Amino acid sequence: MKRVVIIVAAVFLAGMLAAALALIYHLPIDTRDPSPVQPLAFSHRLHAGDYRIPCRFCHRGVDSARPAGIPPLATCQACHLYIAADRPEIIKLLDYMKRQEPIAWVRVYALPEHVSFPHMMHLRAKLDCVLCHGDVAGMERITRGIKLQMGWCLGCHREHQASIDCWTCHI
Ligand code: HEC
Ligand code: HEC
Ligand code: HEC
Ligand code: HEC
Ligand code: HEC
Repeated sequence: MKRVVIIVAAVFLAGMLAAALALIYHLPIDTRDPSPVQPLAFSHRLHAGDYRIPCRFCHRGVDSARPAGIPPLATCQACHLYIAADRPEIIKLLDYMKRQEPIAWVRVYALPEHVSFPHMMHLRAKLDCVLCHGDVAGMERITRGIKLQMGWCLGCHREHQASIDCWTCHI
């Protein structure tokens, strides 16, 4: 009798664990808007596409740090004190500079605090921005095409024989 209870309990616990893992795998981390309107009409298609400014000119951390980094106003200022300085959106930009107020860009890709994502490890492994962020150079406004889920990370880690230990990503 005792043994039956233990077996039933074990099967029940295993079922709960499997259900929990299945849920976690597919839980969307990012329920935020995949294509939010930004406080300023900055276009990647224009800057990275038409004018071919390299991604790394603005996202300087990407090869050496965890975050890729959103450029500060000084990066924009280098060009826009002179370029198109009379257009409404640039006047708005220059006003931010005068007030020394950083632009409150709305994040499109963002993981919860308990997940660690190092850009530099992924770029060292020769993965291109396009794989994860899509054709940014063709986007007027950044739009997230993938669902940021644990299953997405694990799928690619399996494919590339990268670590899938829990502690790799949860520290
Ligand atoms: C390397 C130079 C360069 C840098 C750096 C740069 N831009 Fe530009 N930007 C341009 C050029 C060139 C244009 C096109 C101007 C034209 O249409 O004549 C432009 C156009 C724009 C426009 C559209 C203006 C309009 O209404 O026609 C906006 C808005 C803008 N930039 C914002 C930014 C912001 C924000 C940053 C900083 C994150 C930035 N730019 C950094 C060169 C630059
Ligand atoms: C002239 C500067 C500039 C260049 C060049 C540039 N970016 Fe950006 N990037 C920005 C700014 C400013 C933002 C924040 C505003 C926004 O989301 O559009 C941003 C946001 C992003 C985001 C969204 C981050 C988030 O979570 O909100 C991604 C992804 C991105 N850039 C990738 C790229 C890639 C890939 C390239 C090259 C193909 C590139 N960027 C070239 C300035 C630049
Ligand atoms: C393997 C997938 C992957 C690749 C490759 C990748 N990114 Fe990301 N990127 C992400 C993820 C995931 C986040 C969210 C990270 C977080 O919230 O901690 C992110 C966030 C960002 C952000 C938001 C702000 C920040 O500081 O992190 C920018 C900007 C960005 N990436 C630009 C780039 C550029 C430019 C490249 C190529 C040079 C690139 N990424 C390559 C997955 C990737
Ligand atoms: C497109 C494929 C791809 C995607 C998507 C991806 N990774 Fe990776 N990841 C890799 C590769 C390849 C490596 C490098 C492994 C190496 O160098 O040993 C790596 C390395 C890492 C490392 C460092 C591992 C170590 O050994 O220190 C962490 C942490 C990591 N990824 C977290 C994430 C997280 C979190 C996500 C999802 C938000 C993610 N990755 C999505 C391919 C990917
Ligand atoms: C390659 C990176 C990666 C690995 C390896 C990984 N995870 Fe995750 N995990 C993530 C990401 C990204 C999320 C964000 C999902 C969310 O918050 O919805 C996540 C979310 C979770 C959550 C949900 C927390 C929440 O926000 O509600 C749990 C629980 C979890 N992981 C457990 C595990 C366990 C247990 C393992 C080992 C078997 C593991 N993870 C391995 C990337 C990873």
